[in-house]
Amino acid sequence: MKIINVVGTRPNFIKIAPIMEQMSMVSAIDPFLLHTGQHYDENMNQVFFDQLGIPKPDMYLGVGSGNNANQVSEIIKCIDPVLDQERPDALLVVGDVNSTVACAWAASYRKIPVIHVEAGLRSFDRSMPEEVNRIITDQLSDLLFVTEKSGIENLFREGVDSEKIHFVGNVMVDTLKKNRDLAERDSRILETLKLESKQYIVLTLHRPSNVDTIGVLKPILEVINELSKELKVVFSVHPRTREKIKEFDLEHITQPFSTIGPLPYLDMVCLMSHSKLVLTDSGGIQEETTILRVPCVTIRENTERPITIEKGTNLLGGIQRDSILMAVKSILEFREKDRGVPDLWDGKTAERIVKVILSWAIRL
Ligand code: UD1
Repeated sequence: MKIINVVGTRPNFIKIAPIMEQMSMVSAIDPFLLHTGQHYDENMNQVFFDQLGIPKPDMYLGVGSGNNANQVSEIIKCIDPVLDQERPDALLVVGDVNSTVACAWAASYRKIPVIHVEAGLRSFDRSMPEEVNRIITDQLSDLLFVTEKSGIENLFREGVDSEKIHFVGNVMVDTLKKNRDLAERDSRILETLKLESKQYIVLTLHRPSNVDTIGVLKPILEVINELSKELKVVFSVHPRTREKIKEFDLEHITQPFSTIGPLPYLDMVCLMSHSKLVLTDSGGIQEETTILRVPCVTIRENTERPITIEKGTNLLGGIQRDSILMAVKSILEFREKDRGVPDLWDGKTAERIVKVILSWAIRL
């Protein structure tokens, strides 16, 4: 059974690593890795392949950056001849980025079954391109792997056939559990940045809704500047955010932060696990901090990952000064022993996914 596995962006690499590993151990599956090229900078791309032992892609589309519509249409245009040539038995996509929806869409037109890993998550906010990507990808998918129970309810509500849905846990956790000790052993990030364990905050911001308008970005950075008077802030800056800070002339606000570029996986895991608090608008980091048992405040009005809030590791801080400060105060007061781990986030999700794919393939 030939399966094309799609990656394009940084979080996709973290999710695909354990799936590729499990597939390569099964003789019935011939995994083919396709990289769209949505992310291409060394530290957003190659370093993840090196650190996570992901094989070199069998095909690289090199689509690069662009607005949502251009990026999606470019990927569809580029992958279509590959599907024609390779004639896979299925195409597997992960997450909710433009590469995910574009490849699912192209495969559907060619009647190639689509497998979606991380199906069913919903923020109920269609102003996010990711929400649009999730809804479309799930509607086009033949096999849907869900990370948390809210995903099952969302898919039922949208009329997805229950036979297609499998609650298997979270592949990001597989990668985290496999690499956590290695990160602790090999990363020198604390020494490099002269940090002491539990004496700093980690900050990441990259959502267009947070960084593309000065009226939103400036107050967020100002409140974090306030927090930096109490505790050092380490800011790992996405290229989109770096450009915007420069364009809006906000460097004086981030000046007290320890500002660094996108980090390799092992450094990021080490940095987060020793932090006192993580402030983020990333989806994956809400999940990773849940496993690392580090308090997280999500700088957004909503989350598609409500289980992280139920388990007491994450709080929504919104995007206003007072709500962010309130969330920071509350999460730091929450007791360690009250923080839980979601069901099936046990490091064995990719194994379960491959088993389900094998039994599904027999029925095809
Ligand atoms: C994308 C995903 C987002 C995900 C994030 C993870 C979509 C709609 N968004 O957002 O869901 O959380 O990846 O990081 O798919 N750039 C570089 N180098 C790179 C990649 C991007 O400089 O290697 C810059 C370019 O200026 C580009 C901008 O970052 O225009 C945005 O990149 P893009 O892939 O469009 O979206 P992300 O913000 O990274």
